[in-house]
Amino acid sequence: MSMLEEKDRRKRNTAQQRWRILAKTLIGTQDGFFGNTEEDEVSIRRFGSFDLLKIVRLENTGEDTYSRWYEYSAILENMLYSVRVRWITKSFTANELIGFNNTGNVCIWPSEECLAYYLLKNREVCRGRRVLELGGGMSCLAGVIAAKYCGPSSVVLTDGNPTSVENVRCIVAGNDLADFVECGVVQWAKAAKAIRTARSARTSVYANSNGLRVKNWTTGDDDAQVVPEKLFDVILCADCLFFDEARSDLVETIHGWLTNDGLALVMAPRRGTTFQTFVGAAAKRGFLARQIDRYDGTIWSRHSELLDHSQEYCPDLHYPILLELTKQKRMMLPG
Ligand SMILES: C[S@@+](CC[C@H](N)C(=O)[O-])C[C@H]1O[C@@H](n2cnc3c(N)ncnc32)[C@H](O)[C@@H]1O
Repeated sequence: MSMLEEKDRRKRNTAQQRWRILAKTLIGTQDGFFGNTEEDEVSIRRFGSFDLLKIVRLENTGEDTYSRWYEYSAILENMLYSVRVRWITKSFTANELIGFNNTGNVCIWPSEECLAYYLLKNREVCRGRRVLELGGGMSCLAGVIAAKYCGPSSVVLTDGNPTSVENVRCIVAGNDLADFVECGVVQWAKAAKAIRTARSARTSVYANSNGLRVKNWTTGDDDAQVVPEKLFDVILCADCLFFDEARSDLVETIHGWLTNDGLALVMAPRRGTTFQTFVGAAAKRGFLARQIDRYDGTIWSRHSELLDHSQEYCPDLHYPILLELTKQKRMMLPG
């Protein structure tokens, strides 16, 4: 074997090992559920949905080999809510899945579904607000629902993976929201770096301001600093808490981009200690963190039914907890 081949082989092994670790975190399984080589297709879900939204495949939508359109709908208090969602249907190899994180291109995770449903039931949360979704995956379903039905003043939908963001752009166009909703690639490490730089350069403005304006919102360019023009009143984030290496950057991004009286709605399952570790990091950064297990009656009863009747359902991996983050108020000392 040549040196190059050997190097290639080692790189593949490392990729596979990293994917197995990630997979273990995601679905709590070990070998036996995955193929043995990097070219094997990876199926990574046993439990997929709380069936909160009805999903119907749409025909004649000009789909290609790698995508398919679905209608997601719900009837609540006699009102029909529906959005068109484009799925990426490509199968990913282990190597692709650990490129830039591809977990958001595999499926729409239950946390995103629950957050979308929660917003439909609590539409006032986003009314008249500037809304941002971070790590929204291939659908940004919660952000799309917020844009279409919750009356926000503006919406920005993001993920760190460009393929996800391209798909979200198609969804935004497919729902006639393109004039109103902005989509962009936001990687938390870059965003956090820009926030830290801005803070060290303009400490006093940053500490007191509700409307930090530094540079235009930039997307696409790999090295561009990502800075929104204005801060956000509501930040949405679903199932993004298990990335150990990105946790502090995610906390910093939420903290740096949220207005002083804003609200971050973070939805995620416990996944071992990852949820609690995030809560600790958020509190350390200056957030008040309110953890809510029973945030919706319907979701809670589905969860209870699944506990009783489904062998595949594992609450630690599948039941999303709602975390509300607000900024701790600074005490103004007299004198
Ligand atoms: C498990 S998926 C969840 C996607 C979506 N919210 C859902 O629930 O369907 C995690 C998402 O976080 C994104 N992500 C992971 N690390 C990131 C980072 N460092 N910066 C930005 N996004 C990241 C991935 O691209 C992926 O879409």
